[in-house]
Amino acid sequence: MKPYYITTAIDYTNAPPHIGHAYEKVLADVMARFQRRNGREVYFLTGVDQHGQKVQKSADKVGLSPQEFVDGITQHFTALWDKLNVRFDGWAATTDVKHKKVVQAMLQKLHDCGQLYKKGHTGFYSVRQEQFLTDKDRGPDGNFGEEWGEVVELEEENWYFRLSDHVEWLKGYIQSHPDFIFPAHRATAVLNALEGEAQDLCISRPIERLTWGIPLPFDERFVNYVWFDALTNYISFAGYLADEVGNTGLPKFEDIWPADAEIIGKDILVPAHAVYWPIMLHALGFPDEHIPKLVVHGWWNVKGAKMSKSTGNVINPDTLADTFTPDGLRYYLMRDIATGYDSDFSDERLVMSYNKELAGGLGNLLNRSINMAQKYRAGILTPGTHDDAENAALRQTVAESLPAYLENMNGWAIHDGIAAAWKIVTHANAFVDSTKPFSLAKDPAQAARLDSVLYHLAEALTHVTVLLDPIMPTAMKVAREQIGWDMPTGFQFKDLSWGLLQAGHQLSAPVPLFPRLEIEAPAA
Ligand code: ME8
Ligand code: MG
Repeated sequence: MKPYYITTAIDYTNAPPHIGHAYEKVLADVMARFQRRNGREVYFLTGVDQHGQKVQKSADKVGLSPQEFVDGITQHFTALWDKLNVRFDGWAATTDVKHKKVVQAMLQKLHDCGQLYKKGHTGFYSVRQEQFLTDKDRGPDGNFGEEWGEVVELEEENWYFRLSDHVEWLKGYIQSHPDFIFPAHRATAVLNALEGEAQDLCISRPIERLTWGIPLPFDERFVNYVWFDALTNYISFAGYLADEVGNTGLPKFEDIWPADAEIIGKDILVPAHAVYWPIMLHALGFPDEHIPKLVVHGWWNVKGAKMSKSTGNVINPDTLADTFTPDGLRYYLMRDIATGYDSDFSDERLVMSYNKELAGGLGNLLNRSINMAQKYRAGILTPGTHDDAENAALRQTVAESLPAYLENMNGWAIHDGIAAAWKIVTHANAFVDSTKPFSLAKDPAQAARLDSVLYHLAEALTHVTVLLDPIMPTAMKVAREQIGWDMPTGFQFKDLSWGLLQAGHQLSAPVPLFPRLEIEAPAA
């Protein structure tokens, strides 16, 4: 079977990572880990978007060369992915010579087949968004709104891509491929954007205005527009044209393309990913079956407002990972948003999710279960012959959580996948309260029942550590060490069935998995 090829947006390197970047990469990492344990081979690509006007400007401001500047910022990203256990297989940095060669070869191909042409143009240009504006971009008052930043009138010659030639194809493609964009409701915005007269896309910047980009191979007075360059990462690092340009050490393109999931935020769906990108591929001769699938997530806002440098409400994931542990942050980012919708970042909810759910719910369950087994049975499990309705009910919850978990995770409803696994945690905690192992331990006549209770708790917890492994890989490994169960290499979700722990199983020492934090509201 074709490997599951998953990518994310490549992050701009004009500023260090914020919580939105962390969310997207953790989401991709969770899905990559999930798919692996779901029996798929996976190729996970992520990286950084290093060219463009914003970078050139930021570098100028601090007196660095653009390359020195992006190298410094890139380190913040790679260090964060390392800290958060985001384990990718390929790293897409757009200043990588492998990428530049493919971008140039692609431009040459488009040029050779008549898809590019040169013309003069006078118009209004948004410096912030790095694009010429049209009347459609004017607000109701006739002016260009604040979102465009500084707008200047420019006259220049540029190279254009015949985007308009392919708009009818794209409309048809979207209408006949409801699975092109997830969630499906986002396709409406794309179709709306395609209404009206189609424009061609300016894909060059004269070097007088921008030098920090990939030169056009057929006209050295221009560099490539940053979006054309950035979007190409999904194929350049997947081995597209590798033989032609002499790239090695990349996947075999025929084996992994098309991408099964290109994860992006809602702001870069229209026009970049849902219009430019499929049309670029179509113009290059990619058949409809080779158009990648888009997964569009929502945004993290802060107290209902958009996160922005100027507001000063940018949330730094690095310090949060220090306070709440990397897995604590991963858990919060996955449990407090529904993929495709916005969420509000909240200190209070982060503290609640850590202290109440991880420490008080899961951590406490693990700790008291192992503690009691150590105290009453020297940590040795004996399933025994006793059984009753309470035991059966817990086994049923464990059995039912798996299909619910799989269905939700496969459908990108990570928060519901977590909830499905959490049913085991909640039930097991209630099971301790109702079976009262501490009372059973006082009555020798209840010895067999106590054995079965201790066994059920440890076994149920073992299942939880497998289900939550994609979300909290480090903590779940530590939990399994305490349980004394080493997940076999290649273990898959389909291998989960009651009886992972054998009679005579020896538990290890209990150590609080998520030590409670004495904290009200952290400074982010
Ligand atoms: O757009 N919440 O880079 P970028 C959730 N380089 N996600 C957010 C977010 C938030 N508050 N803010 C940003 C770029 N994102 C281009 C992409 S791809 C060929 C080139 C998401 O650093 C955003 O939606 O501005 C995007 O998917 C990703 O972070 C990188 O944003
Ligand atoms: Mg952005």
